[in-house]
Amino acid sequence: MTRNFIDLADAGTDALIAMLEAARARKLARIGWPKGTPDADAPLAGHTLAMIFEKNSTRTRVSFDMAMRQLGGTTIVMDSGSMQLGRGETIADTARVLSRYVDAIMIRTDDHQKAADLAKYATVPVINGLTDQSHPCQIMADLLTVLEYKSRIGGLEWAWLGDGNNVLHSIVEAGSLLKFPVRYGCPDGYDPADDVIAAARARGGVVRCEREAEAAIANADVVVTDTWISMGQAHAEEKLAAMMPYQVTASLMVKAKPDAIFLHCLPAHRGEEVTDEVIDGVQSVIWDEAENRLHAQKAVLLWCLGKLD
Ligand code: CP
Ligand code: NVA
Repeated sequence: MTRNFIDLADAGTDALIAMLEAARARKLARIGWPKGTPDADAPLAGHTLAMIFEKNSTRTRVSFDMAMRQLGGTTIVMDSGSMQLGRGETIADTARVLSRYVDAIMIRTDDHQKAADLAKYATVPVINGLTDQSHPCQIMADLLTVLEYKSRIGGLEWAWLGDGNNVLHSIVEAGSLLKFPVRYGCPDGYDPADDVIAAARARGGVVRCEREAEAAIANADVVVTDTWISMGQAHAEEKLAAMMPYQVTASLMVKAKPDAIFLHCLPAHRGEEVTDEVIDGVQSVIWDEAENRLHAQKAVLLWCLGKLD
């Protein structure tokens, strides 16, 4: 069966753990090497990943490209506007055709259903590089970062401050699969999707909403935020005003555990969801987190292509 990575639950707990272990091992094995040098075993030699972008990207685009180079493979990067997809060719036909040329497809799209349909009609693995609903590759990097700093994942308390968006959805999903509780502090009306919370709880996940930012962050091991206005959303002064009490400031950060780490998927809107003092502060591990996109995605690619159990 084709292994797709549309959401974390597609892979399941055991595979996620295997991917994190593989990511860590590969990262350690190439410390100090030039970044474009293939890993010693070049496990994806001869393989090509096609990437479709319907939205902007810096990290996802470059980290997947370098991931394939390090695994010994190659990439083809396409913006949907320059594809026939942008002129109305269906996602199903696009999936069928690309499957005849490449070994795997990554898509970044505004519509989760498009990613699901691409996976449905493709005969090669499809990876979600962000949709309006989820961002599983980002959370793989976040989990790897937490593992590096905390030496474990299960049982750590995560606190999310801000918009109930795609990134939070994948964190909640990860919490239910890898057994860590998630508290989210967000204003009424900007909550994560009910079905995502319900699915996580059905898997035994512990998820709690707090309307007070201080209650959300209290005693957290991991503090996370993201932009208040995601790609494709209209800039709304009303939303920015509602989010302001959830800004991650130094005075809020002290309510977390003293050794709490701060994560942000980037790009950041400094002075909105987080202050310079926090994002540039000693608890911030955002550059390791960004680097870990590369290492985590190498493991996702290996899993999708049947090179990891
Ligand atoms: N975090 C993330 O996905 O970054 P890009 O939008 O730059 O890919
Ligand atoms: N929530 C953000 C994440 C960007 C990486 C967005 O969807 O724009």
